[in-house]
Amino acid sequence: SVLASLEGRTELARALQKVLEISRVVVVVGDSDEEQWVKDTLGFQAATELRTLLQDGDVVAVTGGSTMATMAKMMPRHSAAFPVRVVPARGGLGESTSIQANTIAEQLATAMGGSYSVLHVPDRLSEETLKRLNDEPMVQERLEEIRQSTVVVHGIGGALQMAERRALSAKEYETLVKQGAVAEAFGYYFNQQGETVHSMTTVGLKLGDLDRMRLVMGVAGGASKAPAIASAAKAYRMDLLVTDEGAARSILENV
Ligand code: BG6
Repeated sequence: SVLASLEGRTELARALQKVLEISRVVVVVGDSDEEQWVKDTLGFQAATELRTLLQDGDVVAVTGGSTMATMAKMMPRHSAAFPVRVVPARGGLGESTSIQANTIAEQLATAMGGSYSVLHVPDRLSEETLKRLNDEPMVQERLEEIRQSTVVVHGIGGALQMAERRALSAKEYETLVKQGAVAEAFGYYFNQQGETVHSMTTVGLKLGDLDRMRLVMGVAGGASKAPAIASAAKAYRMDLLVTDEGAARSILENV
């Protein structure tokens, strides 16, 4: 029955809060690996949570990915505008425009009646180019705003899935496999213990920036992402996780 499934999900959420040491976990029904509508529900739930938790003066940093894109798409359009500022968490022009952080920041801001900024910097840069870019006044200005964000909403991916999506070289891919990378978030790759094994050279938020944020919110679902979610939860502080039953059950089965 509906009630039984609801109680089930509340229990799942409670169990996850304990296991992952995240103070608030929300679990939506279904498995987004299997059905697209589950991802829409996940996106809608995340959008609603975010909208509820936002405070005046917040600057929200968002990452890219299909989950964040769905959240932006599902953000309810209220008649009263909320003048929030939305910025991309990292540069990253590697993927299709519809799932780039820049596009998502714009869509999310527009849905809430806020404003946004963009950061047009490629995903993969040589150390030297990165240094030079960081010196550009335009980039510096944007970076400062990004670093001063108060809320960050991000997707979490499987390490090897993300490596493939970002077209890492065969050598880099092999290294990730050898290092036991299971998760990717913010351009960082983590092993099962939540240790960083690799990070992308791009501009934007650093893992250390999360420490002073008011709210770190992760959104990821699907049983296939269970190891990635569990690893990310160990890697950095997450205050709120929005996930689905598929991922939740699989995480709990494997602890
Ligand atoms: C990327 C984020 O764009 O999306 C990553 O930068 C994240 O950090 C990934 O892991 C998740 O993607 P998706 O499509 O599974 O939501």
